[in-house]
Amino acid sequence: MDKVIIFDTTLRDGEQAAGASLNAQEKLEIARQLDKLGVDVIEVGFPASSPGDFEAVCLIAQEVRRPVICALSSADSGAVDKTWEAVKGAAHPRIHIFLSASDIHLSYQLKKSREDILKTSREMVARARNYLDDIEFSPMDATRAEPAYIYQILETVIDAGASTVNIPDTVGYTTPREFSDLMQGILSNVPNIRKAVLSAHCHNDLGLAVANSLEAIRVGARQVECTINGIGERAGNASLEEIVMALKTRHDFFGLTTGINTTQIYRMSRLVSELFGFPIQPNKAIIGANAFRHQSGIHQDGVLKRAITYEIMDPRSVGIPSSTLVLSKLSGRHAFRERLAELGYTLSEEALKHAFQGFKELADKKKEMTDRDIESLIAEELRTTTEVYHLDHVEVSCGDHSLPTATVRLIGPDGQSLADAALGTGPVDAVCKAINRIVGIPNELTEFTVKSVTEGIDAIGEVLIRIESEGVTYTGRGASTDIVVASAKAYMNALNRLLAAKGGSSNADSQN
Ligand code: KIV
Ligand code: ZN
Repeated sequence: MDKVIIFDTTLRDGEQAAGASLNAQEKLEIARQLDKLGVDVIEVGFPASSPGDFEAVCLIAQEVRRPVICALSSADSGAVDKTWEAVKGAAHPRIHIFLSASDIHLSYQLKKSREDILKTSREMVARARNYLDDIEFSPMDATRAEPAYIYQILETVIDAGASTVNIPDTVGYTTPREFSDLMQGILSNVPNIRKAVLSAHCHNDLGLAVANSLEAIRVGARQVECTINGIGERAGNASLEEIVMALKTRHDFFGLTTGINTTQIYRMSRLVSELFGFPIQPNKAIIGANAFRHQSGIHQDGVLKRAITYEIMDPRSVGIPSSTLVLSKLSGRHAFRERLAELGYTLSEEALKHAFQGFKELADKKKEMTDRDIESLIAEELRTTTEVYHLDHVEVSCGDHSLPTATVRLIGPDGQSLADAALGTGPVDAVCKAINRIVGIPNELTEFTVKSVTEGIDAIGEVLIRIESEGVTYTGRGASTDIVVASAKAYMNALNRLLAAKGGSSNADSQN
């Protein structure tokens, strides 16, 4: 086999990143783009872990029909049954069962013997096999387990019906040489290994996730598990775009292909960054803002003479827009739609109408509208939250000799207009306090970041706010040329998510 199966776990392991919280519609949006990107398997969630995950898995299973739709399950009969319930509507369903395999996990966490683990692994794979053929098994913390024991587990689960066996470096501990030795050991010591696909799943705690994954592939793994932008638990997972572009750019070395349409990478990466609210560091390989920028005079000179002097990849091959066409307030709906299509967005008529209205309002304030401005506008359209309260008006007064004061007006659940005012330590604090006086739902603001979308004093400001309520994080985003307005939008967005999760009720409702 010279094709590597790309297994994307952005919606499962990626969603385990601290501060991540997507609703089912946003997950569906990402799954649709992963489909366009050409991934072979999408791991869409862990249905037994929460009702939200269960709902999202069911929805994506129904809607996204080409790739394999995989759902994670713990090695527990109730969880396996529930996972099947969630994923059974998929055209190509897969259940992925995991169970710890290292002595560290067995003695300190599970308090089980190696024999117990072997027995449970066999039983759970056999149970899933009653429902479907496509079953993946992962011995968790495999890289800190004894290799001979991993061989035994793999032989047992393949015998019970597992068709993919995945080797997780759960805590990002292994090194490239050690990991390829383990993979080679598996290929030579597990007698029935040819009946299954061998897979690698690496975490990035030592910054080695991509290197370890590529080593596994080099010695024979034919599935790799990764996430867009490398998001995931702690330091994250192996980054999909880095693995795919390494295989493509160094085809001379690896001799392997993937089914990925690399021109969709940029769009995919931006979507994940926007919806998760995780900015991309400028020097991030492949998709960072500086990844194709040449600063030094010698490099610029070389690139102008022939790009190959300092560029190993063509930026267009990862879908970085090359257009210099800039839209302005005179641009019509047609030009706007065309530009969106070039950037890879297809919006419904309703969403297009709304986005175009936003474009016109913004174009009145800015001379030129760049691709990043347009992406920021579209991101607002994609933030699908049921609006319990709508921000209708915000006004602040502040300065070095006045008390920051905000007045806000919201449209409430029954269409009533609700206004209030508050003082704060600064204008944003005052706005949030005024909103809280109306909505009245306890929450703690845990993160507030502002970034400018483009250079220039008239740039759009994007604000990201995370709030916490009863241990759950809700992320809100807002964009405007006025950062106080952007902050108000972001705070309302986070509160609406919190209210939607609680079924739309607030303290204000109970007081009324
Ligand atoms: O890192 C890990 O061990 C996992 C498993 C559930 C595969 O994510
Ligand atoms: Zn993982």
